[in-house]
Amino acid sequence: MSNQEYFYVTTPIYYVNDVPHIGHAYTTVAADVLARWYRLKGYRVHFLTGMDEHGEKVAKTAAEKGMTPQEWCDHMAPHFQAMLELLDISNDDFIRTTEERHVRGVVTLLETLQEKDALYLRDYEGPYCVACETYLTGGELVDAEGGAGGNLCPIHKSPVDHLREHNWFFRLSNYRDRLLDHIKEHPEFIEPATRRNEVISFLEEGLNDISFSRSTITWGVPLPWDTDQVAYVWPDALANYMTAVGYGTNEERFHQDWPASLHLVGKDILRFHTIIWPAILMAADLPLPRQVFVHGWLLAAGEKMSKTRANKIAPSEIVDGFGVDCSRYYFLRDVSFGLDGSFSWEAMLQRYNADLANDIGNLASRVLNMVERYLDGLSPKEQGVDGDDGGEIDALQAALTSAVSVYGERFEALDFDDGLLALWGFFHAANRFVEDTTPWHLAKDKSPAAQARLREVLGAALEALRISAVLLSPVMPGAARRLWDKLGLEAAPDAQILEKAVIWGQFPAGTRVTKGDPLFPRKEI
Ligand code: ME8
Ligand code: MG
Repeated sequence: MSNQEYFYVTTPIYYVNDVPHIGHAYTTVAADVLARWYRLKGYRVHFLTGMDEHGEKVAKTAAEKGMTPQEWCDHMAPHFQAMLELLDISNDDFIRTTEERHVRGVVTLLETLQEKDALYLRDYEGPYCVACETYLTGGELVDAEGGAGGNLCPIHKSPVDHLREHNWFFRLSNYRDRLLDHIKEHPEFIEPATRRNEVISFLEEGLNDISFSRSTITWGVPLPWDTDQVAYVWPDALANYMTAVGYGTNEERFHQDWPASLHLVGKDILRFHTIIWPAILMAADLPLPRQVFVHGWLLAAGEKMSKTRANKIAPSEIVDGFGVDCSRYYFLRDVSFGLDGSFSWEAMLQRYNADLANDIGNLASRVLNMVERYLDGLSPKEQGVDGDDGGEIDALQAALTSAVSVYGERFEALDFDDGLLALWGFFHAANRFVEDTTPWHLAKDKSPAAQARLREVLGAALEALRISAVLLSPVMPGAARRLWDKLGLEAAPDAQILEKAVIWGQFPAGTRVTKGDPLFPRKEI
């Protein structure tokens, strides 16, 4: 299918200096939801995540642990892969920057930049935050209270190093005008708009060239023409988005699969992705990604959750407490994507009981229970297909149509919380439908008309659950599958094509449905 639409989404590749926390889970889940959403729409999807293994930070950690950097990275890889398993992440690839395919691609990129005269030798002297792997300026440093003029990294609040090296510099300043033009012509390149404006102001102040190599560390990709230096970890890491799809190793594939549709990143790495990365691509004459979407931070006790701070929460803690589906749902529903959000166990419990156990869990239990009791557990043929029941089924179908359109439109704008709000609007409509049509009264009335209406009403309710499972599948793939199984349906909710699946009236007649255990048993504190 050559004209099939294509969606290539990436997460940052995470540093392996420590095990992942829920900040990493957050970005990864958001990327997964989009990948699953576009698959449901029938797109060809490529979803990439991975590990950033080079650089001083990882080398230092390995030394502290008495391992070689490579041993340390190999030791950490299963932890990151376990996070993906734990969170039901459907990535198509997992790249490690120590893999040969990546290193070869980085060498190609460096050689290209060198051929195009984008690099030159110069002295670097100034502050460097190892935790960020970032060259800073004196003006960016803060003191312990966050005020100007200290010796601390503004993000990590840890002391910076003072570097003095002879390095290869990248002519970043040459790209300021082209970057500004690109952002003006393609405002969607940086979302949300607040981040775009931040980058524009930064560019308007002017750009300095940036050191692209390190001479005082060895854990990295050696420059092919000056092997005493290794590439600075950031150009090495950014290249992963291309090396994973064949840059430098498989030209045919690269032309097919590059550029990326979307890089999802946290605001800590905004400038790397919206200034340095596009400038590298411009220098190498390569196409730019369509969009960089910058989300906020998950805060714990008011501070950015971070591997170097003591406030980190392991993904397994929330999954053990609330299950994978609720963990995924919580991230997208409780925080406005793009803004900072405070992680809170209380809010998570609240979401679990109200949104999951109540709104969708109860709806499923009630409907399935009534089908078991009143219809011998078999789905009826009737489900109000022609939509002329004089009210309730029409209203339910109208609620579905509007929810589906808002849900999709909001998801594609990465406004997950409003998208979910729209879907929950449909669940509320379905709960109201059950209340208003009172199947328990119809069941007592043995007249043919009442029995026909009972079948029609429960058929419509089952149909609402079938479509709900499909719509939920990008966000809660496990719960969607469990609901699907209760409905006795074949294939899987995430094997459907959205456009066809939301057409009302497809619930197969005579299917055995089972109430079974609740989807989300209520939790006490
Ligand atoms: O920066 N809240 O890796 P990293 C939300 N290797 N998101 C968070 C978060 C938090 N508290 N903490 C981390 C690096 N993240 C580089 C990236 S890409 C070419 C190289 C997420 O391990 C968020 O996506 O420090 C953030 O941008 C990323 O993890 C940083 O991960
Ligand atoms: Mg919103």
